[in-house]
Amino acid sequence: MERTYFMIKPEIVAAGGQRIGDILAIVNTADFRVTNLHMRQLDRALVEEFYAEHKDKPFFGALCDYITSGPVVAVGLERDNAVSALRELIGATNPVEAATGTIRDIFGASLQNNAVHASANSGDASRELGLVFGE
Ligand code: CMP
Repeated sequence: MERTYFMIKPEIVAAGGQRIGDILAIVNTADFRVTNLHMRQLDRALVEEFYAEHKDKPFFGALCDYITSGPVVAVGLERDNAVSALRELIGATNPVEAATGTIRDIFGASLQNNAVHASANSGDASRELGLVFGE
């Protein structure tokens, strides 16, 4: 069993419960077990640490502004090969490049407002779950 971190980003949460439910239903079809879930507004320091690998990128400030602009839905998930299975389910970072039927294809609006985040590897998953849930 492997754990991963999944996050529904602010523009989806702001749009109301329907899209949150639709996205969690897609995740559910792939046999993940939810180990933790909450909705909350993340503070700036946490988000800067969460996205620390991007701190020298030109979009870092805008990304942190965006992720702290409203509540996110933070989810801990578990299954075999959880990291790669979830990455496949959400699709490429840029929604225009995301495979048809993936979460970012259906719900993503732009490269920044790409609906959801999923941990890139198991090391990131442990770090991100620790930061958000204190696991
Ligand atoms: P995410 O998977 O959460 O990881 C980092 C985030 O930065 C990414 O999704 C996008 O929301 C955002 N991002 C990545 N590349 C760019 C870019 N070139 N311009 C703006 N935002 C980006």
